Amino acid sequence: MKILFIGDVVGSPGRDMVKTYLPKLKEKYRPTVTIINGENAASGKGITEKIYKDFLSWGAQAVTLGNHTWDKKDIFEFIDEAKYLVRPANYPANNPGKGIVYVKINDIEVAVINAQGRIFLPAIEDPFDKLDELVTEAKKRTNYIFVDFHAEATSEKQAVGWYLDGRVSAVVGTHTHVQTADERILPNGTAYITDVGMTGPYNGILGVERDRVIEKFKTNLPTRFEVTKDGNNQLNAVCITLDAKTGQSKKIERILINEDHPFYG
Ligand SMILES: [Fe+2]
Ligand SMILES: [Fe+2]
Repeated sequence: MKILFIGDVVGSPGRDMVKTYLPKLKEKYRPTVTIINGENAASGKGITEKIYKDFLSWGAQAVTLGNHTWDKKDIFEFIDEAKYLVRPANYPANNPGKGIVYVKINDIEVAVINAQGRIFLPAIEDPFDKLDELVTEAKKRTNYIFVDFHAEATSEKQAVGWYLDGRVSAVVGTHTHVQTADERILPNGTAYITDVGMTGPYNGILGVERDRVIEKFKTNLPTRFEVTKDGNNQLNAVCITLDAKTGQSKKIERILINEDHPFYG
């Protein structure tokens, strides 16, 4: 039982990387389930119905989101019908969409949960309480529970990892767009990584044109961010191997595809 998870896909460079490399990753890792974080998939901000459907047609079974969930107006038109689209669960209760979905493969069911941190991000509901509630609900159906915790602060991400250790199969961090080298299996069987990293431009600042970001820091004036398109791209992911019976994790492998990276290959 394996779960392949691809970190924040940024714009068309990120989507191209998924389309090109997902078949190769599937051949190499043979995942049972593939999940993609798509919060930046539409020009760096949000997701459209077409992109969501493309991800499913390219071989993902679920798509998670984050703080850019509502950035494209299109989302309000399709989120309630999108069966495998997961937005942060700890948004206000009246928000459209859902924070947990169940993916079924043969007779296996995997719960996919998305939650968002509260440090340097909008004030929303307590992710710990919400995760308690959803994990209890999911446990009644399956031992395979995957959590994408979308947050800025490493401390908050580690706290969620340890909080859920032994109760879920994996807690993987997203949002910072920088892959961390701390992947591990926590003592009670939960796979953990602080951030999976991003999929898209390698030479931007978190995927965005460098000049614009530097200008923003220097002037603090409103700036239009554009996704970098210089042809140098990367794909960041993890592959997690679960015990088929217990749903506990046995192995987590960090994946970095980037032909320009000095350590690649
Ligand atoms: Fe992101
Ligand atoms: Fe984010």
